[in-house]
Amino acid sequence: MPDTITATAPQAPGAELRATGSLDIKDSRTGKNYPVQILEGGVEGDTAIRAMDLRQIKTAPEEFGMMTYDPAFMNTASCRSAITFIDGDKGILRYRGYPIEQLAESATFLEVAWLLRNGELPAQKEYDRWVHDITYHTYVHENIKRFLEGFRYDAHPMSMLCSSVAALSSFYPEAKNIKDPDQRYISIIRLLAKLPTLAAFIYRHGKGLPFIYPDNDLGYVENFLSMVARMSEPQYEANPVFVKALEVLFILHADHEQNCSTNAVRAVGSSEVDPFSAIAAGIAALYGPLHGGANEAVLRMIEEIGHPKNVPAFIDSVKGGKGGRLMGFGHRVYKSYDPRAKIVKRLADQVFAQIGMDKDLEIALKLEEAALHDDYFVSRKLYPNVDFYTGLIYRSMAFPTDFFTVLFAVARTSGWLAQWEELLNDKEQKIARPRQIYVGYGEREYDSRISEKFPKTNKDGRKK
Ligand code: CMC
Repeated sequence: MPDTITATAPQAPGAELRATGSLDIKDSRTGKNYPVQILEGGVEGDTAIRAMDLRQIKTAPEEFGMMTYDPAFMNTASCRSAITFIDGDKGILRYRGYPIEQLAESATFLEVAWLLRNGELPAQKEYDRWVHDITYHTYVHENIKRFLEGFRYDAHPMSMLCSSVAALSSFYPEAKNIKDPDQRYISIIRLLAKLPTLAAFIYRHGKGLPFIYPDNDLGYVENFLSMVARMSEPQYEANPVFVKALEVLFILHADHEQNCSTNAVRAVGSSEVDPFSAIAAGIAALYGPLHGGANEAVLRMIEEIGHPKNVPAFIDSVKGGKGGRLMGFGHRVYKSYDPRAKIVKRLADQVFAQIGMDKDLEIALKLEEAALHDDYFVSRKLYPNVDFYTGLIYRSMAFPTDFFTVLFAVARTSGWLAQWEELLNDKEQKIARPRQIYVGYGEREYDSRISEKFPKTNKDGRKK
């Protein structure tokens, strides 16, 4: 086992929360005052109070105490994290302090995966070892192939990915030893290595093509493209424009702090289940159209609009609440242009300059222009997000529409794993278990309204 197994997360400047003042809360029911400590953390100076500090607020000793009510976690920090920083108002995204623009320009995806996990950029020796280990774990057990063959030809690729990653957990039962650093390392390597293989096998299954095994002489992205597209040639030579574009898209999708799927990975991982099962939970969350599934939904929306001349009517229908949402627009955190979307738009220009214009780019550009000048979208701070243009690039590479979110999942696995390990290293974390405000009935007597609910039986207990 290599000597580079211990991730340093989450030790980073400002990882410890410090008291910076206090908040006086006055309970109008009792007239009592409760000073609550204000905590500050990180170099950006985020502040919070501990929700548990509110529990002391009660009107009688037997009461449970005050909770916070925050559906959809609009304003709740569930963890301290040193991995990804977003400033939604300024449109800033950084991994471990490095601006996304610089990483997209100059880094490789596996370098970013190392950075996310370890907190620092890898030295040459560390990088070589990391790439070697990932390259030599790309094969999947032959039974996985048979497992995939059980799916119907038109099964959604995300359903197949989710179940096959969950199934991997049964091939590596030792992965449940999550406190053993060697096991953690090898599970992380296996997941990063096998996701492209599973994704490519799923693609081939959908097309009815034979599976292509990994080629250890190729880089991460080239190998993936080879497993997707190789036919009878002895070695696949990927289009360098596609290789570069996919590398950049993987970097852009690698992590995005506490989004829906990362929260799912952390919540499921907090039960101390193995990482294959936790990552399968992340894939399930990503599948939804409001999250990673939006890239597929954008393309379907553009295809439905059909022609640039139909854009104004479509925008009106969205505003009138009849046309659904403008997919690929809006974000919980970004209230200005998503920095990833800016990079994707430039990337789309570069790809289309090389391989020819996508027929629907004009519709996308027109939608963007219309929305950016329309008060409905401007007043709600709805800007294009990362998913708005990615689908057009993926389509130009001949990926089917329902496969787009799989590409997102392959990349996001690196972030999920870094976040999962940070959770395990964080002494403050416990099993995730939110509270609720119970609004159902009070106690009532059982009074069945069904007269025949159990099968009639003979004296010997057998069905009549
Ligand atoms: N089109 C039209 N109206 C929208 C949209 C949209 N795409 N997004 C938000 N709104 C409106 C929404 O109707 C609401 O209006 P009102 O105040 O009149 O009720 C207001 O904007 C606030 O919306 P919200 O639903 O409270 O915002 P949220 O933070 O809960 O939702 C979102 C964020 C991303 C789920 C949402 O913007 C959306 O559904 N966008 C389309 C789906 C999409 O592109 N998702 C990909 C997100 S980026 C990739 C990723 O990280 O997953």
